[in-house]
Amino acid sequence: MNTVINIVLDFFKKNKIVIFIILFSALGINAQDDSLALTPPMGWNSWNKFGCDVNETLIKETADAMVKSGMKNAGYEYIVIDDCWQIGRDKDGNIIPDSERFPSGMKTLADYIHSKGLKFGLYSDAGIKTCQGRPGSRGYEFQDARQYAAWGVDYLKYDWCYHGKQNAEASYSLMREALKVSGRPIVFSICEWGTNQPWLWAKGIGHLWRTTGDIQDCWDCKKDWGGLGWIHIIDLQVGLESYAGPGHWNDPDMLEVGNGGMTITEYRAHFSLWCILAAPLMAGNDLRNMSPEIVEILTNREVIAVNQDSLGRQGSKIKDDGDFEVWSKQMKDGSRAVVLFNRSKSDAEMSVSWNEIGYPNHLYANVRDLWKKKDLGKYKGNFSAIVPSHGVAMVRITP
Ligand code: GLA
Repeated sequence: MNTVINIVLDFFKKNKIVIFIILFSALGINAQDDSLALTPPMGWNSWNKFGCDVNETLIKETADAMVKSGMKNAGYEYIVIDDCWQIGRDKDGNIIPDSERFPSGMKTLADYIHSKGLKFGLYSDAGIKTCQGRPGSRGYEFQDARQYAAWGVDYLKYDWCYHGKQNAEASYSLMREALKVSGRPIVFSICEWGTNQPWLWAKGIGHLWRTTGDIQDCWDCKKDWGGLGWIHIIDLQVGLESYAGPGHWNDPDMLEVGNGGMTITEYRAHFSLWCILAAPLMAGNDLRNMSPEIVEILTNREVIAVNQDSLGRQGSKIKDDGDFEVWSKQMKDGSRAVVLFNRSKSDAEMSVSWNEIGYPNHLYANVRDLWKKKDLGKYKGNFSAIVPSHGVAMVRITP
């Protein structure tokens, strides 16, 4: 018996590090975990405004603008280059960035972004090619993840074009493993457009997952190829609220605020709904050229606080009278954020009752208008407001 104990002790002494790693993994303490996205990620992504027209000057100027505009102070953090930064693979299979557009290389660019106190993100695809026909990561998952880590990547958006017969859960799990062992904490953004109902399986694999096709800079347009105006996207979020929480978020796609296709009222409504949904807030406009109204929308701290509330509840639609919808989100302090959303063609009076948001009707509650940044006073039983056509009233109701 003593000999057995001695052998075991000897093994422990000689293999301290191995045992430490085994215990570490067994306890589930991993480099990559939910804590990277305890609240919905906030940042900027190149796709909605610039498509394939990306280069290092744009990315650096965007990082500068994120700081200068006050967006960084309001909580925006990630600068993500979407498709088209990559042009091929070398003979060893290493991914090659477009050196004409990114002459200083990705490491230098990441260093620049980090020097501004921001984080750096890239895009790839689970299939053999990206949606724009650039090399995908299929078969190169571990090699790519190692490269991203070496460059200083903090966020990976991973698309679903050219996936052939691949299984989505297996494909995303594989990259998840590759990122885990890369040695760098990297937020993993799943982008398979809701095709395989990722809300049912992606918790623990990705920190966020797209729930729909691509957003368009319009109120209610629908493109043949699946692009959607944001009110159609909103309709597709109903019922998904129970799947979101700290570390795992439904992603109704990036913001179109400031891209020029909608009115300020519509952009304010778009931003309000994304905040009540606890959606990732990835700006998609040109941060170097923003009107004061657009900056005001993107940096409204009281509205952002609804999005970033640490309870991590996704808000839900609690009333639907045709064009008149009421959305509510429970907050950590017990208050409710409420959006009265008027989809009709005329201004209208809309209301919410305390019963609808889970309060007894006899309760007195403070109502604060989050866009006017003004306390409206104490109300009992219900609150109503005139809401502009295609717009919102957004309030926080605190008993
Ligand atoms: C898909 C994604 C978009 C964008 C493009 C890039 O359409 O859904 O968000 O990344 O690919 O090609």
